[in-house]
Amino acid sequence: MENKKFYITTPIYYPSDNFHIGHCYTTIIADSIARFKRLSGYDTFFLTGTDEHGQKIEKKAKECGVTPKEYVDKIVDNAKDLWASLNISYDKFIRTTDKEHEEVVQKIFKKLYDQGDIYKGEYKGLYCTPCESFWTETQLDENGNCPDCHREVHEVKEEAYFFKLSKYQAWLEEFLDSHPDFIEPTSRKNEMINNFIKPGLSDLCVSRTSFKWGVPVSFDEKHVVYVWIDALSNYISALGYLTDDDTLFKKYWPADLQIVGKDIIRFHGIYWPIFLMALDLPIPKTIVVHNWITMKDGKMSKSKGNVIYPEQLIKRYGLDATKYFLLREMPIATDGLFTPENFVQRYNFDLCNDLSNLLNRTVSMINKYYEGNVPEYNGTQNDVDDEFEKAGENVISEFEEKMNEYEISNALQTIWSYIARTNKYIDETAPWSLAKVVEGESEDEKEVKQEKLKSAMYHLVASLKEIAILIRPFLNETSNEILRQLGI
Ligand code: MSP
Repeated sequence: MENKKFYITTPIYYPSDNFHIGHCYTTIIADSIARFKRLSGYDTFFLTGTDEHGQKIEKKAKECGVTPKEYVDKIVDNAKDLWASLNISYDKFIRTTDKEHEEVVQKIFKKLYDQGDIYKGEYKGLYCTPCESFWTETQLDENGNCPDCHREVHEVKEEAYFFKLSKYQAWLEEFLDSHPDFIEPTSRKNEMINNFIKPGLSDLCVSRTSFKWGVPVSFDEKHVVYVWIDALSNYISALGYLTDDDTLFKKYWPADLQIVGKDIIRFHGIYWPIFLMALDLPIPKTIVVHNWITMKDGKMSKSKGNVIYPEQLIKRYGLDATKYFLLREMPIATDGLFTPENFVQRYNFDLCNDLSNLLNRTVSMINKYYEGNVPEYNGTQNDVDDEFEKAGENVISEFEEKMNEYEISNALQTIWSYIARTNKYIDETAPWSLAKVVEGESEDEKEVKQEKLKSAMYHLVASLKEIAILIRPFLNETSNEILRQLGI
């Protein structure tokens, strides 16, 4: 088989606090797609990690009386435990504090500076002295004060390096126009073009001198690299770009799929292709933008006290129930409302009623009628079987089509309609009446019933096996359990 490759990434998360269900959402989507691609024969590389630098982390660490590195180390340990408990199959976990990453960032910064894309200028910002933080006009509270401590801010200037985004505006517009699949869904792309590109791109501040927790600019050490050159470069530094061993980079770049939340599309849809263009590198094929998981009172946040942590759900309902809910109920293109009622409903109806029942009924019938052995079946067909087989024929191609368009919720819906169809098949064939010995029945009649019963059991097992394979990228434990119970 042709050696097809697939490189997929999640955003790298800020380790400012332990991760909640929103962070898990992106990672579970990426994990499901990575598993699907591996099962489909792709040589897949799945990257996730943490974005560890910056003023916010520096401040948090100070508040806790530890160094920034000590602070992030602890959260990264928790994050790795969390991904292990969610069975996330990443191939690499990158930290922006990895030495290899920092060196690549320095090389990229220098290269962009040497070729004239980065220049030294002056950053003007609104500064809160007690919080030691810069804010933009739009971030201020309703009284125009610091959004954290609500004290006065004042304008300050500091020397900073800037990247010439404006130079690439025309190129970016042309690129977005000629690559309609680059950003999905298209509505997000249009929004980005109207809100940020059309009004004109201003040059981007890419270094700071007002805090220290960052990658030093190699040729001007009082500066640290500010946010996006550091953060976005992870996707290529993780593969060894600009290092002695760039085998992975040569093999996997450009990324096939980068998954991001709607709050960071501007950075991935504007800065990222421009940086890559400036570095003369190919642009990723697709960036899928997902919406947020919201609560009844809006976005999840610590201050509102409405944050859901996955550990609680997994403990109570199990891993697969948690994953199933997020993938099935939270549509990618609109905000998904998390309510405990919805969660329990999905769990009870889809997983318990539909899938578990199908498995339990099938296994108990095979135990009862054939002492636990799937019967030999000679292929004699009847109309009910024919129709059932026909219904099953399109399931796999329909499922693949949806997965290839990254429509996970719809792909799951396809599987669940097949599960419903299989449950219906049990009612149609009514195996319990086929197994019943009726007085006065001829040998021929008995024989026909026996064949039908064998056929029904055979078809049920075949269908469950297919279902187990189809759900495998999402619900790995359940898939294993079905295969185990069927003795496959
Ligand atoms: N560090 C940056 C990304 C750099 S990528 C080069 C960042 N980190 S973050 O931790 O704040 O967010 C990471 C991702 O989590 C984003 O894609 C964001 O949309 C997602 N989510 C955070 N809260 C979320 C929800 N409540 N619901 C769904 N996703 C959410 O931004």
